[in-house]
Amino acid sequence: MKFVRRDIISMKDFSREEIDYILKKAEALEPFARGKRSNLLAGKILATLFYEPSTRTRLSFETAMKRLSGDVIGIVIPEASSVAKGETLADTLRVIEGYADAIVLRHSREGAARMAAEISDIPIINAGDGAGHHPTQTLLDLYTIRREGHLENLSIALIGDLKYGRTVHSLAYALSLYGAEINLVSPEQLRIPPDIKNDLKKRGANVVETTKLSDVISDIDVLYVTRIQKERFPDPSEYQKVTGTYRISTEMLQDVKDDMIIMHPLPKADEIDKDVDYTKHARYFKQAFYGVPVRMAVLYHILGDAR
Ligand code: NCD
Repeated sequence: MKFVRRDIISMKDFSREEIDYILKKAEALEPFARGKRSNLLAGKILATLFYEPSTRTRLSFETAMKRLSGDVIGIVIPEASSVAKGETLADTLRVIEGYADAIVLRHSREGAARMAAEISDIPIINAGDGAGHHPTQTLLDLYTIRREGHLENLSIALIGDLKYGRTVHSLAYALSLYGAEINLVSPEQLRIPPDIKNDLKKRGANVVETTKLSDVISDIDVLYVTRIQKERFPDPSEYQKVTGTYRISTEMLQDVKDDMIIMHPLPKADEIDKDVDYTKHARYFKQAFYGVPVRMAVLYHILGDAR
């Protein structure tokens, strides 16, 4: 398995063996995510380049690097639109590759990470490219499913904004490798893009589309909730039509499987009632923690010296 100096752009580029390899390493590194000392990445520098807001992704990458004794440099540029010119990003990348060993990039434009990887001599890790992909989120989602439930014979519902949500795009591709039953629950306007649906079908994925969560809620092992991606809507009135469509409440959990888990990439807006946080089903805060061992594993494989 070769990961050294590899770009991590899309889940489409991963085989099941490669995913399992990373998840296994993440499990081995979990004690270090909890504070055990390690020098695995001493002397390595990670650059975080975020042109869009982030809390968990950036901080868990930084934590992962620091817990393994690596260093982090970075810039956060909230005014994405004014700097999102292709050439400016290209110049920035050329400068940073002289400072760091890898770059974690979040950008509002779909395809930005792929373009960055073509320009940059050091590895690019896609931390979200517009409504495109978010592969390391998927790796931590799979890790959470494995640690808190099971990946085999999995029935999962992805609910919310399946059109603009990059976390569900990446996750759906990966789940197709595990033979999962994938229930896509969304309003008509926010269905998964047709090209992704076609890809999933070509990969032999078991996909069911519905607008009603009640159709599937009692049969699933995982409920993966997403935020309506307000910032991606070209027209605010279209957002108004769909906001609040789904809101998970404790009443809706009456007939679910005893060990069903609820996940969310976070941040959540109003799609999950606060009371749900205190049920035995909620796993989203734990899921956010698992970002650390998983990103440790990714960084270790990319930055490690041909191990
Ligand atoms: C997600 C993202 O940025 O795509 N957040 C994350 O990385 N955990 C989800 C979202 O913003 O809704």
